[in-house]
Amino acid sequence: MYPRVRAQLREKLQDKTIFNLFRQFRGDILDLGCGYGTFSIKLAYNFKNARVIGADINQEKIQWAKVASKNIPNLEFEVRDAFSLGYKELFDMVCLVDVLHHVPRKQHRSIFSNIHEALKPNGILFYRDIDTSHFLRHWNTLHDALLNWTIPQYQDLQSTILILTLEGFLMLKSFEARTFLYPYQYVICQKKTEK
Ligand SMILES: C[S@@+](CC[C@H](N)C(=O)[O-])C[C@H]1O[C@@H](n2cnc3c(N)ncnc32)[C@H](O)[C@@H]1O
Repeated sequence: MYPRVRAQLREKLQDKTIFNLFRQFRGDILDLGCGYGTFSIKLAYNFKNARVIGADINQEKIQWAKVASKNIPNLEFEVRDAFSLGYKELFDMVCLVDVLHHVPRKQHRSIFSNIHEALKPNGILFYRDIDTSHFLRHWNTLHDALLNWTIPQYQDLQSTILILTLEGFLMLKSFEARTFLYPYQYVICQKKTEK
């Protein structure tokens, strides 16, 4: 019951930015750190001509995600650690939504490096996370402290852009926006063919 309530709450917080930006996206999409898979399901539903893989380090969440999505033909789930992704030029798009603040700041670059490797040349990274600059971030801190027993590590948008650039991404769009209670930063960038 509990994971379902949490999944439903998160579902309400997810916005439509990606679907407004990329209509009818085709190709292979990795939803990294997919949790219970609510965003992966939306990706598979909205991008019917894409093949979506949801991956998360948490085995239990992946089991729930598989149950919730068993009749969706263009969606699969698997247990995988973002630190040892091991994909080479397989995906046209990687989504990293609300994952990075669960990872120590010093290790953010290594995750972006693995994503860079997982993307095909010119592949897209769609990134969203909590924005440091808005006081409403404290809602998320409270949420993570109470529900996950962790203290989140936020990063400001300029630092995110800097490390993505150093990892060989070309910035296409970046902005800050608020959905419901949470302030977010977004970056949409593209893997350059040469670093
Ligand atoms: C706040 S949840 C976001 C879930 C999902 N992206 C969404 O928006 O509904 C963060 C997720 O990141 C996952 N995560 C944290 N560290 C990870 C890692 N090293 N590799 C893969 N997933 C990871 C957690 O297990 C958790 O499910």
